[in-house]
Amino acid sequence: MAKINANYDKLSAGYLFPEIAKRTRKFQQLYPNVRVLRLGIGDTTEPLPPAVIDGLYEGVKKLANRESYTGYGDYEGNLELREALKAQYQAAGVDLDVSEIFVSDGAKPDSGNIQSVFATDNVIAIQDPAYPVYVDTNVIAGRTGLYNQETKQYDGIIYMPCTEENGFFSDVPGQKVDLIYLCSPNNPTGAVATKMQLKSFVEYARTHKSVIIFDAAYSDYIRDSEIPTSIFQVEGAKECAIEINSFSKSAGFTGVRLGWSVVPKSLAVLDAPAGKVNALWARRQCTFFNGASNVVQAGGLAVLSPLGRQECRKIIDYYMENAAIIRDGLLALGLTVYGGDNAPYIWLKTPGNISSWDFFDKLLREANVVGTPGSGFGPHGEGFFRLSAFGHRENVEMAVENIKQNLRL
Ligand code: MLT
Repeated sequence: MAKINANYDKLSAGYLFPEIAKRTRKFQQLYPNVRVLRLGIGDTTEPLPPAVIDGLYEGVKKLANRESYTGYGDYEGNLELREALKAQYQAAGVDLDVSEIFVSDGAKPDSGNIQSVFATDNVIAIQDPAYPVYVDTNVIAGRTGLYNQETKQYDGIIYMPCTEENGFFSDVPGQKVDLIYLCSPNNPTGAVATKMQLKSFVEYARTHKSVIIFDAAYSDYIRDSEIPTSIFQVEGAKECAIEINSFSKSAGFTGVRLGWSVVPKSLAVLDAPAGKVNALWARRQCTFFNGASNVVQAGGLAVLSPLGRQECRKIIDYYMENAAIIRDGLLALGLTVYGGDNAPYIWLKTPGNISSWDFFDKLLREANVVGTPGSGFGPHGEGFFRLSAFGHRENVEMAVENIKQNLRL
């Protein structure tokens, strides 16, 4: 008789964003005439710019005749695209070989799948709060014990609390861990890690032969030139880090799907030669994945062209203006607000210390605005709430106005 993977039953709740969508739908059924404004999931809303649309068309046109038609491409991604990514890293002071870059259908699948090349008895450390994929995929893989209802933590995971006191970026773990997930600019807190902070993790990882899985999906939102956009800008990181990135937030590809991972050949792991993790990730990808869509990769190449970059930058600026509108509106109400200056997320402290989910209901009921409860990202997210800066300007302005006028504080 077939048996299920019982690790799924350890998951403490449904995936966060479908749960929010479900609650929002219920509210809309009760109040069909109310206009609900969504600042929940970090989903891009603005159309792709002309250079990128042209790139996608080029990709489609190539499929229309025999001479340029392509079927399966390289599993690791189109070489031209990987060369363009390599050049992008080079411009940021990071030297990579194209064989260290793997194109994929997004940062979410990569950040979920990367754990599969590591042993299940590795001890993992995760920022708390964090993007739920890191925890959930490790639970599913059997790398954790049960969920503890009291602490709201999984046994076996080392949680690195990100709090107001530490500026939402924790210190290195106090004990030895094997895999460390870091995200900067951070989803959900909007905090960014300084070079010194990343350096301390790189030193820790090199000392303990741990691997850092660095999620840089929001790196294009960094405004402060002192903040690293890649962990590889820290010396020694190529011996201890994997970096995951995406076209989703930087180029509006949330529905188009394109991302990449960098798995350096110099990555050091226990009892395996240099290049082993890179080879395993290549093996994993060509077994489970047939490469990103050729049309989409043509679009990605256009994103990385000088014109594409310029046009995408304008859209990022637009979202960052949204972030400023949200942040200023909330500050004017006297709320305690973080993030939003190097990231498209605003992280606010719930007023009156109410729970994150209670604030979700209150905000929806009183201001008709959907956000994301901080506790959905981990126990240290309790008492906080995330608002996303992705949205049409008029909706963002209306949401802020509704909050200012109707939220009872
Ligand atoms: C989020 O809202 O946290 C993210 O947009 C979800 C995602 O990127 O998968």
